[in-house]
Amino acid sequence: MNEAFFDKKDYKSLDRVDGRLKVTGAARYSAEYQLSGLVYAVLVESKIAKGTIKSIDSKAAERAPGVLAVISHVNAIKVPGYQTSNQHPSEPPVNGQPLRAFYDNNVYYNGQPVAVVVASTLEKAQYGASLVKIQYEKEQHKTDFDANMESAVLPAQAKKNPKSPVADYSRGDKNAFANAPVKIDAEYVLPTEVHNPMELQAITAHWEAEDKLTVYDKVQGTQPTQKQFAKEWNLPPENVKVIATFVGGAFGNGLHNWPHETAAIIAAKQVKKPVKLVLTREQMFTMVGYRPYTWQKIQMGATKDGKLVAINHESVGQTSSYEEFTESTLQQTRMMYASPNINTRYRILKLDVSTPIWMRGPGEATGAFALESAMDEMAFSLNIDPIEFRLMNYTDSDPDKQLPWSTKYLKECYDAGKEKIGWEKRKMQPGSVRSGEWLVGYGMGTGTFGANRGVAAVRAELDAEGNLLMQCAITDIGPGTGTAMVQIASNTTGIATDKITFQLGNSQFPKAGNQGGSSTVNSVGPAVQAACNALKEQLKTMIASNGGSQAAFASAKTDDILFVNGQIQIAGSDSAKVDIGTLFKQNNIRKIETTQESKPDENRNKYSMYAFSMHFAEVHVHSLTGQIRVKKVVCCADAGTIISPKTAANQMIGGATGGIGMALMESAIIDHRFGRYVTKDFAEYHVPVHADVPHVEVFFVNKPDTLADPVGSKGLGEIAIIGVAPAIANAIFNATGKRIRELPITPDKLI
Ligand code: MOS
Repeated sequence: MNEAFFDKKDYKSLDRVDGRLKVTGAARYSAEYQLSGLVYAVLVESKIAKGTIKSIDSKAAERAPGVLAVISHVNAIKVPGYQTSNQHPSEPPVNGQPLRAFYDNNVYYNGQPVAVVVASTLEKAQYGASLVKIQYEKEQHKTDFDANMESAVLPAQAKKNPKSPVADYSRGDKNAFANAPVKIDAEYVLPTEVHNPMELQAITAHWEAEDKLTVYDKVQGTQPTQKQFAKEWNLPPENVKVIATFVGGAFGNGLHNWPHETAAIIAAKQVKKPVKLVLTREQMFTMVGYRPYTWQKIQMGATKDGKLVAINHESVGQTSSYEEFTESTLQQTRMMYASPNINTRYRILKLDVSTPIWMRGPGEATGAFALESAMDEMAFSLNIDPIEFRLMNYTDSDPDKQLPWSTKYLKECYDAGKEKIGWEKRKMQPGSVRSGEWLVGYGMGTGTFGANRGVAAVRAELDAEGNLLMQCAITDIGPGTGTAMVQIASNTTGIATDKITFQLGNSQFPKAGNQGGSSTVNSVGPAVQAACNALKEQLKTMIASNGGSQAAFASAKTDDILFVNGQIQIAGSDSAKVDIGTLFKQNNIRKIETTQESKPDENRNKYSMYAFSMHFAEVHVHSLTGQIRVKKVVCCADAGTIISPKTAANQMIGGATGGIGMALMESAIIDHRFGRYVTKDFAEYHVPVHADVPHVEVFFVNKPDTLADPVGSKGLGEIAIIGVAPAIANAIFNATGKRIRELPITPDKLI
């Protein structure tokens, strides 16, 4: 793509800037760094769910060919930060003590890493690991959520702070539900789901010197990881380098640093060689978090003419015995609809399992399944169309924060979605539309997620040939961050996209947090814009100081300065064009550069900022077998400005695919006799494949929200999935008249 484009309202589709590297195998992932002297590590896991290790017999493993070390709590070097820091690196912090690799002989869950075998090849390490014999002192474990639900507790952070998002919440009349004319009272269950990105979690750890650590690590934040390992190893942050140039998918499990990473770093230190450690698919179920098993109850009350009068929403999510993971399951209930009376209650249940972590649309996707199912149930009871019912309870400002929305174009989403799915074909009475032996149903679900923004900085460098190079520590877990940033830079400067490079995934680049919470474009995008504008200012000053006909540049607006084919010009003006090469030569320079930081402003206190989505599904259910086919999905999103239409649509399709998995397939199941997962690979844990995913149509409102951030984006990674599962569940009800409140909805639940 050669021509520059200048219409600032209209970003055009661009192929991924790194697409060719990815499909040709030239992109290097964390397990693909062939460092000299590289050796291989394989983890040994606990076979009990709770207790202590009595003894570890590693003699046979140590004698096996190629084995360099067998490391466990018995002989692991002391990690300095284990003594001083017990704080989880995440924001907001999770209470408790993160699991420390090889720290002591305690076993907290089945599958916990308890030893690591290092060898000259992967196969030798695997064989060595098979020879490690461990004796345990077993204790009674608890892994069964349903059997233990009465032990759920208020999270410590809510006890400390009554304003915490997981503290009990009440607005209006606490008892309004009791007096409501029409009532819904239902329980919803979401099983444990596992992220399962294509790329397995992997780390290559290399001590370049006694006090200098480099890790090639599959993470969602290079600098948050740098901070974490600096703390853990008591090093100045600049001595820790984190590289994550390519990440082969991550849905939250790279937002936390996990024991396998520290295990590899310990091993590298002890064998004095770079160590590579790649988790197995089975270990992905127990070592890097998951979406927690969650029980919810909703009591909803309305008037006969469709006005909500009360919502009581309770949630209990599972966590480990050593950390209190919480998520914002109830947030959508507090702000989505105009009910005057709302109570929410959040509890956690500590079990002998590993700690959960955010998974795409964390909390909100879980909460939306209950809330949007309940909205559908209520609409049906009232004999009101589900979209009409939502519009009757639409809010023009945030009833939770009591602030105006920065922007909210959800009505545009309803309108577009209705038309694209063919909503007029839907009948209120379930089972009334058929196609041969198949029952046809239509359903919809709404989603929302905070339009988050963090601090980010970008370094930009322009050379005499008019090439623009930018750098930022942010990662790209798949959405196409480099592509979007190149588009923002091109849109800001007029430089053709093929002359712009965006480098990322290196902790030594300028500041960025995690790629998480749909915040990257909103945070890094403005820094790209600021850096491009700062370059323009430098050029403007340089040109204007030449005087003569070029003095017009002195008064030109930064926005109007453009670069076209290596020439600098003022948009809409006939003034002289200035050749960048000539200008640099005159000034005796080869390039100009700048680093600019961008951060959230005070508008965040004045407005409530959310991205919104609306999903529609057409589902066919076989009347005899209960087989479910999702025939069509329509995704509508109010995500602010859409910077990169192609990758943004890709994200929505990916989210819809994840939502189909949530609704119909995904479930990680523990055999409670052993406290161990029986679903541990793709044969047992099902995810949607091509044949399961129908035509997905994507619609973006594409109106900027410049209160949220200067590029006008609100983020869309999470809203892509939130609302999909209830849309499908509601469509299944419309098709069959069966209301399934426990995911996944498998055929056995329908016949
Ligand atoms: Mo997402 S759960 O913020 O990776």
